[in-house]
Amino acid sequence: MNLKNSSHDFSGFDLNSYISKKNILINDELNKIISSSQNSNLLTKAMSYSLLSGGKRIRPVLCIAASEAVGGNEYDVLPAACALEMIHTYSLIHDDLPAMDNDTLRRGKPTCHVAFNESTAILAGDALLTLAFQILSSVHINNGAAKWLKVIHVVSLAAGYRGMIEGQMRDMASENSHISLKELEDMHSLKTGVLIEASVESGAILGNGNSEQIEQLKIYAKNIGLAFQITDDLLNVKGDPAITGKAAGSDKTRNKNTYPALLGVTGSENHAKKLITDALHAIETFDNKSDSLRALALYIIERKR
Ligand code: IPE
Ligand code: IPE
Ligand code: MG
Ligand code: MG
Repeated sequence: MNLKNSSHDFSGFDLNSYISKKNILINDELNKIISSSQNSNLLTKAMSYSLLSGGKRIRPVLCIAASEAVGGNEYDVLPAACALEMIHTYSLIHDDLPAMDNDTLRRGKPTCHVAFNESTAILAGDALLTLAFQILSSVHINNGAAKWLKVIHVVSLAAGYRGMIEGQMRDMASENSHISLKELEDMHSLKTGVLIEASVESGAILGNGNSEQIEQLKIYAKNIGLAFQITDDLLNVKGDPAITGKAAGSDKTRNKNTYPALLGVTGSENHAKKLITDALHAIETFDNKSDSLRALALYIIERKR
Protein backbone atom coordinates (compact mmCIF):
# COMPACT_ATOMS: atom_id res chain seq x y z
CA MET A 1 0.00 0.00 0.00
CA ASN A 2 1.39 3.42 -0.90
CA LEU A 3 0.91 4.59 2.69
CA LYS A 4 4.29 2.91 3.22
CA ASN A 5 5.86 5.76 1.31
CA SER A 6 4.85 8.37 3.85
CA SER A 7 7.62 10.82 4.72
CA HIS A 8 9.25 8.32 7.08
CA ASP A 9 10.43 5.16 5.32
CA PHE A 10 9.84 2.10 7.48
CA SER A 11 9.50 -0.40 4.65
CA GLY A 12 12.49 -2.38 5.95
CA PHE A 13 10.87 -3.03 9.32
CA ASP A 14 10.17 -6.75 9.84
CA LEU A 15 6.81 -6.65 11.59
CA ASN A 16 6.20 -10.41 11.48
CA SER A 17 9.33 -11.16 13.42
CA TYR A 18 8.62 -8.25 15.81
CA ILE A 19 5.12 -9.54 16.58
CA SER A 20 6.37 -13.14 16.94
CA LYS A 21 9.06 -12.15 19.43
CA LYS A 22 6.71 -10.02 21.51
CA ASN A 23 4.05 -12.74 21.42
CA ILE A 24 6.47 -15.26 22.92
CA LEU A 25 7.21 -12.85 25.76
CA ILE A 26 3.53 -12.01 26.33
CA ASN A 27 2.32 -15.60 26.14
CA ASP A 28 5.06 -16.82 28.52
CA GLU A 29 4.08 -14.18 31.05
CA LEU A 30 0.34 -14.86 30.69
CA ASN A 31 1.08 -18.56 31.17
CA LYS A 32 3.06 -17.82 34.32
CA ILE A 33 0.36 -15.58 35.77
CA ILE A 34 -2.47 -17.96 35.07
CA SER A 35 -0.66 -21.09 36.22
CA SER A 36 0.43 -19.46 39.48
CA SER A 37 -3.14 -18.41 40.23
CA GLN A 38 -4.79 -21.66 39.33
CA ASN A 39 -5.60 -24.82 41.18
CA SER A 40 -7.13 -26.44 38.13
CA ASN A 41 -10.76 -25.91 39.03
CA LEU A 42 -13.42 -25.25 36.42
CA LEU A 43 -13.16 -21.48 36.73
CA THR A 44 -9.41 -21.31 36.14
CA LYS A 45 -9.69 -23.84 33.33
CA ALA A 46 -12.19 -21.56 31.59
CA MET A 47 -9.98 -18.50 32.20
CA SER A 48 -6.93 -20.26 30.70
CA TYR A 49 -8.97 -21.71 27.85
CA SER A 50 -9.91 -18.27 26.59
CA LEU A 51 -6.78 -16.37 27.57
CA LEU A 52 -4.27 -18.83 26.14
CA SER A 53 -6.16 -19.67 23.00
CA GLY A 54 -4.08 -17.76 20.47
CA GLY A 55 -5.37 -14.23 19.95
CA LYS A 56 -3.23 -11.79 17.98
CA ARG A 57 -2.13 -9.99 21.19
CA ILE A 58 -2.37 -6.68 19.37
CA ARG A 59 -3.11 -4.62 22.51
CA PRO A 60 -0.11 -5.89 24.52
CA VAL A 61 2.11 -5.57 21.45
CA LEU A 62 0.97 -1.94 21.03
CA CYS A 63 1.63 -1.28 24.71
CA ILE A 64 5.19 -2.56 24.39
CA ALA A 65 5.75 -0.77 21.07
CA ALA A 66 4.55 2.55 22.52
CA SER A 67 6.91 2.16 25.44
CA GLU A 68 9.84 1.41 23.14
CA ALA A 69 8.89 4.36 20.93
CA VAL A 70 9.59 6.73 23.83
CA GLY A 71 12.72 4.92 25.00
CA GLY A 72 11.23 2.36 27.42
CA ASN A 73 11.67 -1.38 27.36
CA GLU A 74 9.45 -4.44 27.08
CA TYR A 75 10.07 -5.87 30.55
CA ASP A 76 8.96 -2.76 32.41
CA VAL A 77 5.57 -2.74 30.72
CA LEU A 78 4.90 -6.48 30.65
CA PRO A 79 2.43 -6.52 33.58
CA ALA A 80 0.40 -3.77 31.85
CA ALA A 81 0.58 -5.57 28.51
CA CYS A 82 -0.75 -8.76 30.13
CA ALA A 83 -3.46 -6.93 32.06
CA LEU A 84 -4.71 -5.34 28.82
CA GLU A 85 -4.91 -8.73 27.15
CA MET A 86 -6.87 -10.10 30.12
CA ILE A 87 -9.38 -7.27 29.90
CA HIS A 88 -9.67 -7.77 26.16
CA THR A 89 -10.18 -11.53 26.55
CA TYR A 90 -12.84 -11.00 29.19
CA SER A 91 -14.63 -8.62 26.81
CA LEU A 92 -14.59 -11.28 24.10
CA ILE A 93 -15.98 -13.99 26.41
CA HIS A 94 -18.87 -11.72 27.37
CA ASP A 95 -19.32 -10.40 23.80
CA ASP A 96 -19.88 -13.98 22.58
CA LEU A 97 -22.53 -14.87 25.19
CA PRO A 98 -26.03 -15.77 24.01
CA ALA A 99 -27.37 -12.56 25.54
CA MET A 100 -24.91 -10.56 23.45
CA ASP A 101 -23.60 -11.64 20.02
CA ASN A 102 -24.38 -15.32 20.58
CA ASP A 103 -21.29 -16.57 18.79
CA THR A 104 -20.01 -20.13 18.95
CA LEU A 105 -16.55 -19.73 17.39
CA ARG A 106 -13.72 -17.57 18.72
CA ARG A 107 -9.99 -17.75 18.02
CA GLY A 108 -10.72 -20.89 15.99
CA LYS A 109 -12.25 -22.74 18.93
CA PRO A 110 -15.69 -23.07 20.53
CA THR A 111 -16.48 -19.93 22.53
CA CYS A 112 -16.06 -20.11 26.29
CA HIS A 113 -19.76 -20.61 27.09
CA VAL A 114 -19.92 -23.43 24.50
CA ALA A 115 -16.79 -25.18 25.75
CA PHE A 116 -17.85 -24.77 29.42
CA ASN A 117 -21.26 -23.32 30.21
CA GLU A 118 -22.82 -19.89 30.40
CA SER A 119 -22.39 -19.24 34.09
CA THR A 120 -18.76 -20.37 34.00
CA ALA A 121 -18.08 -18.11 31.00
CA ILE A 122 -19.62 -15.09 32.75
CA LEU A 123 -17.56 -15.74 35.86
CA ALA A 124 -14.36 -16.46 33.92
CA GLY A 125 -14.80 -13.06 32.27
CA ASP A 126 -15.39 -11.39 35.64
CA ALA A 127 -12.32 -13.11 37.06
CA LEU A 128 -10.05 -12.07 34.18
CA LEU A 129 -11.16 -8.45 34.53
CA THR A 130 -10.43 -8.47 38.23
CA LEU A 131 -7.13 -10.31 37.78
CA ALA A 132 -6.03 -7.60 35.36
CA PHE A 133 -6.28 -4.97 38.09
CA GLN A 134 -4.58 -7.28 40.58
CA ILE A 135 -1.64 -7.54 38.16
CA LEU A 136 -1.58 -3.78 37.49
CA SER A 137 -1.53 -3.01 41.21
CA SER A 138 1.09 -5.63 42.13
CA VAL A 139 4.14 -3.55 41.24
CA HIS A 140 6.69 -2.87 43.93
CA ILE A 141 6.08 0.42 45.69
CA ASN A 142 9.56 1.70 44.78
CA ASN A 143 9.22 0.77 41.14
CA GLY A 144 7.51 3.87 39.76
CA ALA A 145 4.28 3.40 41.74
CA ALA A 146 2.94 6.80 40.62
CA LYS A 147 3.17 5.79 36.96
CA TRP A 148 1.37 2.55 37.66
CA LEU A 149 -1.38 4.40 39.51
CA LYS A 150 -1.80 6.61 36.44
CA VAL A 151 -1.98 3.51 34.22
CA ILE A 152 -4.61 1.94 36.49
CA HIS A 153 -6.65 5.12 36.13
CA VAL A 154 -6.28 5.20 32.33
CA VAL A 155 -7.16 1.51 31.96
CA SER A 156 -10.13 1.64 34.33
CA LEU A 157 -11.59 4.61 32.44
CA ALA A 158 -11.16 2.82 29.11
CA ALA A 159 -12.64 -0.48 30.28
CA GLY A 160 -15.45 1.09 32.24
CA TYR A 161 -18.93 2.49 31.93
CA ARG A 162 -17.89 5.51 29.91
CA GLY A 163 -15.58 3.49 27.70
CA MET A 164 -15.77 -0.07 26.40
CA ILE A 165 -18.91 -1.03 28.32
CA GLU A 166 -20.80 1.99 27.02
CA GLY A 167 -19.69 1.03 23.51
CA GLN A 168 -21.01 -2.49 24.03
CA MET A 169 -24.29 -1.06 25.37
CA ARG A 170 -24.70 1.07 22.26
CA ASP A 171 -23.85 -1.90 20.03
CA MET A 172 -26.57 -4.01 21.63
CA ALA A 173 -29.11 -1.17 21.83
CA SER A 174 -28.73 -0.28 18.16
CA GLU A 175 -29.26 -3.78 16.74
CA ASN A 176 -32.18 -3.66 14.28
CA SER A 177 -32.17 0.13 14.10
CA HIS A 178 -30.30 2.70 12.05
CA ILE A 179 -27.76 5.06 13.51
CA SER A 180 -25.84 7.91 11.87
CA LEU A 181 -22.22 7.71 10.77
CA LYS A 182 -21.24 9.91 13.70
CA GLU A 183 -23.08 7.62 16.12
CA LEU A 184 -21.40 4.60 14.55
CA GLU A 185 -17.97 6.21 14.84
CA ASP A 186 -18.58 7.00 18.52
CA MET A 187 -19.87 3.49 19.20
CA HIS A 188 -16.88 1.83 17.51
CA SER A 189 -14.41 4.14 19.21
CA LEU A 190 -15.94 3.30 22.57
CA LYS A 191 -16.35 -0.45 22.21
CA THR A 192 -12.93 -1.08 20.64
CA GLY A 193 -10.95 2.13 20.21
CA VAL A 194 -10.62 3.19 23.81
CA LEU A 195 -8.91 0.00 25.01
CA ILE A 196 -6.46 0.31 22.12
CA GLU A 197 -5.87 3.93 23.09
CA ALA A 198 -5.30 2.88 26.69
CA SER A 199 -2.80 0.24 25.52
CA VAL A 200 -0.72 2.83 23.69
CA GLU A 201 -1.05 5.46 26.42
CA SER A 202 -0.09 2.99 29.17
CA GLY A 203 3.01 1.95 27.26
CA ALA A 204 3.97 5.58 26.73
CA ILE A 205 3.45 6.47 30.41
CA LEU A 206 5.47 3.49 31.64
CA GLY A 207 8.19 4.17 29.08
CA ASN A 208 8.52 7.69 30.56
CA GLY A 209 7.26 9.50 27.49
CA ASN A 210 6.92 13.27 27.88
CA SER A 211 3.51 14.92 27.70
CA GLU A 212 3.94 16.01 24.09
CA GLN A 213 4.89 12.48 23.00
CA ILE A 214 1.95 11.04 24.91
CA GLU A 215 -0.48 13.49 23.27
CA GLN A 216 0.76 12.58 19.77
CA LEU A 217 0.60 8.87 20.59
CA LYS A 218 -2.99 9.30 21.77
CA ILE A 219 -3.91 10.80 18.39
CA TYR A 220 -2.14 7.89 16.68
CA ALA A 221 -4.04 5.43 18.88
CA LYS A 222 -7.43 7.04 18.41
CA ASN A 223 -7.08 6.65 14.66
CA ILE A 224 -5.78 3.07 14.66
CA GLY A 225 -8.40 2.09 17.26
CA LEU A 226 -11.28 3.10 15.02
CA ALA A 227 -9.57 1.61 11.96
CA PHE A 228 -9.19 -1.65 13.89
CA GLN A 229 -12.95 -1.97 14.40
CA ILE A 230 -13.71 -0.95 10.80
CA THR A 231 -11.41 -3.77 9.67
CA ASP A 232 -13.17 -6.13 12.09
CA ASP A 233 -16.46 -5.15 10.41
CA LEU A 234 -14.91 -5.77 6.97
CA LEU A 235 -13.58 -9.18 8.01
CA ASN A 236 -17.10 -10.09 9.14
CA VAL A 237 -18.21 -9.44 5.56
CA LYS A 238 -15.36 -10.83 3.50
CA GLY A 239 -13.04 -12.62 5.90
CA ASP A 240 -12.36 -16.35 5.84
CA PRO A 241 -13.50 -18.03 9.10
CA ALA A 242 -10.66 -20.54 8.70
CA ILE A 243 -8.27 -17.57 9.06
CA THR A 244 -10.20 -15.19 11.34
CA GLY A 245 -11.19 -18.03 13.67
CA LYS A 246 -14.71 -16.61 13.98
CA ALA A 247 -17.96 -16.64 12.06
CA ALA A 248 -18.48 -14.51 8.96
CA GLY A 249 -21.74 -12.79 8.11
CA SER A 250 -22.97 -12.65 11.69
CA ASP A 251 -23.16 -8.83 11.82
CA LYS A 252 -25.66 -8.86 8.98
CA THR A 253 -27.67 -11.69 10.53
CA ARG A 254 -27.92 -9.76 13.78
CA ASN A 255 -28.65 -6.49 12.01
CA LYS A 256 -25.64 -4.77 13.53
CA ASN A 257 -24.63 -1.26 12.64
CA THR A 258 -21.29 -1.55 10.87
CA TYR A 259 -19.13 0.50 8.51
CA PRO A 260 -19.71 -1.78 5.49
CA ALA A 261 -23.47 -1.58 6.13
CA LEU A 262 -23.30 2.20 6.12
CA LEU A 263 -20.46 3.04 3.71
CA GLY A 264 -20.09 -0.17 1.68
CA VAL A 265 -16.92 -2.26 1.51
CA THR A 266 -14.85 0.14 -0.60
CA GLY A 267 -16.07 3.19 1.31
CA SER A 268 -15.10 1.51 4.58
CA GLU A 269 -11.68 0.49 3.28
CA ASN A 270 -11.01 4.04 2.15
CA HIS A 271 -12.12 5.46 5.45
CA ALA A 272 -9.85 3.06 7.34
CA LYS A 273 -6.92 4.03 5.08
CA LYS A 274 -7.52 7.70 5.81
CA LEU A 275 -7.46 6.99 9.55
CA ILE A 276 -4.15 5.16 9.20
CA THR A 277 -2.70 8.08 7.24
CA ASP A 278 -3.73 10.37 10.09
CA ALA A 279 -2.22 7.97 12.63
CA LEU A 280 1.11 7.93 10.78
CA HIS A 281 1.02 11.70 10.52
CA ALA A 282 0.60 12.04 14.28
CA ILE A 283 3.94 10.30 14.91
CA GLU A 284 5.77 11.72 11.90
CA THR A 285 8.41 13.46 13.98
CA PHE A 286 9.19 10.35 16.05
CA ASP A 287 12.45 8.55 15.29
CA ASN A 288 12.90 4.98 14.04
CA LYS A 289 12.14 3.53 17.48
CA SER A 290 8.55 4.12 16.36
CA ASP A 291 8.80 2.02 13.21
CA SER A 292 7.01 -0.83 15.00
CA LEU A 293 4.07 1.51 15.63
CA ARG A 294 4.12 2.61 12.00
CA ALA A 295 4.16 -0.95 10.72
CA LEU A 296 1.45 -1.94 13.21
CA ALA A 297 -0.78 0.85 11.93
CA LEU A 298 -0.60 -0.58 8.41
CA TYR A 299 -1.04 -4.13 9.67
CA ILE A 300 -4.28 -3.11 11.36
CA ILE A 301 -5.96 -2.47 8.02
CA GLU A 302 -4.14 -5.10 5.97
CA ARG A 303 -4.66 -8.02 8.35
CA LYS A 304 -6.65 -11.08 7.34
CA ARG A 305 -7.42 -12.15 10.93
C1 IPE B 1 -11.70 -8.70 18.22
O1 IPE B 1 -10.44 -8.32 18.67
C2 IPE B 1 -12.77 -7.90 18.87
C3 IPE B 1 -12.64 -6.47 18.72
C4 IPE B 1 -12.57 -5.67 19.73
C5 IPE B 1 -12.65 -5.89 17.38
P1 IPE B 1 -9.11 -8.95 18.07
O2 IPE B 1 -9.21 -8.96 16.58
O3 IPE B 1 -7.94 -8.26 18.66
O4 IPE B 1 -9.19 -10.46 18.58
P2 IPE B 1 -8.06 -11.47 19.03
O5 IPE B 1 -7.56 -11.03 20.35
O6 IPE B 1 -6.97 -11.45 17.99
O7 IPE B 1 -8.75 -12.80 19.11
C1 IPE C 1 -16.25 -6.59 20.02
O1 IPE C 1 -16.92 -6.15 18.93
C2 IPE C 1 -16.04 -5.46 21.01
C3 IPE C 1 -15.70 -5.95 22.33
C4 IPE C 1 -15.53 -7.21 22.62
C5 IPE C 1 -15.55 -4.98 23.38
P1 IPE C 1 -17.49 -7.22 17.89
O2 IPE C 1 -18.61 -7.97 18.48
O3 IPE C 1 -17.71 -6.48 16.63
O4 IPE C 1 -16.21 -8.16 17.73
P2 IPE C 1 -16.15 -9.64 17.16
O5 IPE C 1 -16.32 -9.49 15.69
O6 IPE C 1 -17.21 -10.44 17.84
O7 IPE C 1 -14.77 -10.12 17.48
MG1 MG D 1 -20.18 -7.42 19.73
MG1 MG E 1 -18.98 -10.02 18.60
